[in-house]
Amino acid sequence: MDPQEARRILDEERERGLSMIASADSSEALDAAKVGVLGRKSRFSQVQRALGSFDPEDRKRLGMAANELREALQSALDERSRALAGAEQARLLEGDRIDVTLPGRRLRTGSLHPLTIVEDEMVGIFTRMGYRVEEGPEIEDDWHNFEALNIPPDHPARTMKDSLYVEIPGFLLRTETSAVQIRTMESQDPPVYIVAPGRTYRREAVDATHLSVFHQVEGLAVDEGISFADLKGTLETFARALFGPDRRVRMNPDYFPFVEPGCQVAVSCFKCDGTGCAVCGNGWIELLGAGMVHPKVLENCGIDAERYTGFAFGIGVERVAMVRHGVSDMRMFVEGDVRFLQQFQGAGA
Ligand code: DAH
Repeated sequence: MDPQEARRILDEERERGLSMIASADSSEALDAAKVGVLGRKSRFSQVQRALGSFDPEDRKRLGMAANELREALQSALDERSRALAGAEQARLLEGDRIDVTLPGRRLRTGSLHPLTIVEDEMVGIFTRMGYRVEEGPEIEDDWHNFEALNIPPDHPARTMKDSLYVEIPGFLLRTETSAVQIRTMESQDPPVYIVAPGRTYRREAVDATHLSVFHQVEGLAVDEGISFADLKGTLETFARALFGPDRRVRMNPDYFPFVEPGCQVAVSCFKCDGTGCAVCGNGWIELLGAGMVHPKVLENCGIDAERYTGFAFGIGVERVAMVRHGVSDMRMFVEGDVRFLQQFQGAGA
């Protein structure tokens, strides 16, 4: 290479290098451009290596030109590198941008099931009167579900038609929470004041007013000197707490094997106050069964029926929830339709 050619290469490399640097659109492309214009195999380096073979004057002149070119290319590289880094940063920032003025996304909260709400409400009324909560098993034995409740072996309630039996002989899905009365009296001496909420099962055709799996709240009070008047007062207090202070309670004779006398209890309608409307029909809402605990039941549990008396009652939770919330079909409680369940959002504890 002679000095003339070196000069020409330096001029060409200035033009080619600056345009390569200017068109590098990423830091990788810029690194490649740097190797191409100033790297060991670049034409610029070839010129530098040739300088030693030139005479002193050319060496000095072209050496200066080469230095000047290297500085120019280097400063173009630096400037381009800063520009690319700035653009990169701007792109990252743009991608991460958060609009703090957007309204937040609200989490959808669930709600308690309407039956849970009503059951809690009913149990709460009794616990505030001093009752304790008891529970019993849903798979019950013959003794607790029937025998001890004075339901003899030939009683129609025992037939396969009404009860759901399990494969273990002598066991069935409890048909009423009354079974918990027996378990409680067997294990505790009077005075006993308990409520027993829970699930019950019957071999029942499901329709608008019947489910085969449903809920009851059972109540039992056993003490010295308990009378029918105590039962009436307790149920009046309950009905007024649930449906309003003006409610009246009506008791009609009814038969349940485990009470004597037994009655069907209705409350005057909270909508029409007893004159008759779409909620109640004839002015009264039938709420529950109740009565004075049969002496045989007390004795079956080892309680002295001469000394102690008691009353008991059993309330259908679905029934109360239906009148309370104007639900016309009991099946709504088990269908899991969110549009139905959502209406109870925020209700209950
Ligand atoms: N166990 C009855 C039923 O399922 C309801 C009932 C009636 C419970 C009278 C009682 C009672 O404790 O005394 O229909």
